[in-house]
Amino acid sequence: MAERSPVLVVDDELVFGEIMRQVFEGTEFEVDIYQSAEDALAEFAPGKWHAALLDKNLPGMSGLDLIEKLKAADPDIAAILMTGYASIDTAVSAMRLGAFDYLEKPFGNIALILEKLRRAVARRAIEIANRSLVAELREANVELEKKNEEITVARDELLRQGRMASMGQLASGVAHELNNPLAFVKSNVYIIEEYVEFFQKVIELAVPLKVALDEGPGAVEAAVRAIIGLPFFDELAFFSEDTRNAFKEVKDGLDRAVTIVRRMKDFTYLERTTEEKVDLRECVERAIQIVVGAESTKVKIDVVLVETTLARGFPRQLTQVFINLLLNALSAIEGRTGGEVRVKMHLGDGQVVVDVGDNGRGISPEHLDRVFEPFFTTDESGRGVGLGLNITREIVHRHGGMIRVRSELGGGSVFTVQLPIQN
Ligand SMILES: Nc1ncnc2c1ncn2[C@@H]1O[C@H](COP(=O)(O)OP(=O)(O)O)[C@@H](O)[C@H]1O
Ligand SMILES: [Mg+2]
Repeated sequence: MAERSPVLVVDDELVFGEIMRQVFEGTEFEVDIYQSAEDALAEFAPGKWHAALLDKNLPGMSGLDLIEKLKAADPDIAAILMTGYASIDTAVSAMRLGAFDYLEKPFGNIALILEKLRRAVARRAIEIANRSLVAELREANVELEKKNEEITVARDELLRQGRMASMGQLASGVAHELNNPLAFVKSNVYIIEEYVEFFQKVIELAVPLKVALDEGPGAVEAAVRAIIGLPFFDELAFFSEDTRNAFKEVKDGLDRAVTIVRRMKDFTYLERTTEEKVDLRECVERAIQIVVGAESTKVKIDVVLVETTLARGFPRQLTQVFINLLLNALSAIEGRTGGEVRVKMHLGDGQVVVDVGDNGRGISPEHLDRVFEPFFTTDESGRGVGLGLNITREIVHRHGGMIRVRSELGGGSVFTVQLPIQN
């Protein structure tokens, strides 16, 4: 026989205790019988008895009070109240105290006691099993949450790597872009240097004028003639004016360089971790500025943008989406005459849709399914690492959106990003 369930019986009538002993003989229950609640409590420990059959009317502490005490110390114990006249009131009080059932005395049907006790013990076992299942589930949940967190960290790391990769792709463009204003600054600084050398000569010759004034008109005239005798003296007014222009151009050039650097720097800063309002048009515009700035003379960019605000999102990540698509579009038209990149944006049906299209080399059908895979790349220059589209899709999904591609080998491609406008 399986292990027997220990059962507590408390009844002040000795005879009743004897009956109980007989009733339980040979059953799966093993009884401990006490005549008072106090005696039973003195021996009680949580888990010691699976069930308790308690007489309501005991000398001293009543059966109801005993139920309350037992349940408080061992909520699993299955208590059954035995009462001489089962009034609804008594039943309700017993249930309220956590009793599982009640029995009327005297017992007409012995089998009923066993039946009720079996149910009570089975119920106890189920509750305990449930509880450990819940605990296991909770543990599994904690484990899952931990895993989830790890995945999020890994994904963020991939995002960061992807951003670095597109930074690398951008770097040559940026170097080129910086070159222009800096060359401009440099040539103006050379011009200013020559002017300053000339102005210095004028100043050096002007200093003795004061002494000459004391010496008399002859000395003044000689000093003045020395000044106006300088080569290019007639250009003095022009030089002065042109110095102003040259300085202005130096400042403009430096401003442009600073803007380019700031744009890149903005982009390399870590993304804030909380969502914020995103002006999607601004993201697209910034991406165009960052990517196309240097190439605008080579590429025809056709842009139609509309005002859109996403209620919640990560603006830098979304900027990254368009940077990646534009970088790909530009590399698709590289070396082609009449290459064009088109960016279109429109609203509809609670969604904002942005198309980034090109008339470049296109994607072969067998590659079309693979372009979003991490590390898939056909770039042989070593600049692309095949993370761009994977990260792009990841970011779009994070924002509850979708990305599609239509392409024809030799006929160009269009990547379509669709994002929900949450209000
Ligand atoms: N606009 C496009 N035109 C043609 N092929 C493209 C275009 N965009 C993406 N691809 C293809 O998808 C591949 C993966 O792109 P991506 O994930 O950005 O990685 P990478 O640019 O580093 O190669 C590219 O190597 C290229 O073969
Ligand atoms: Mg790419």
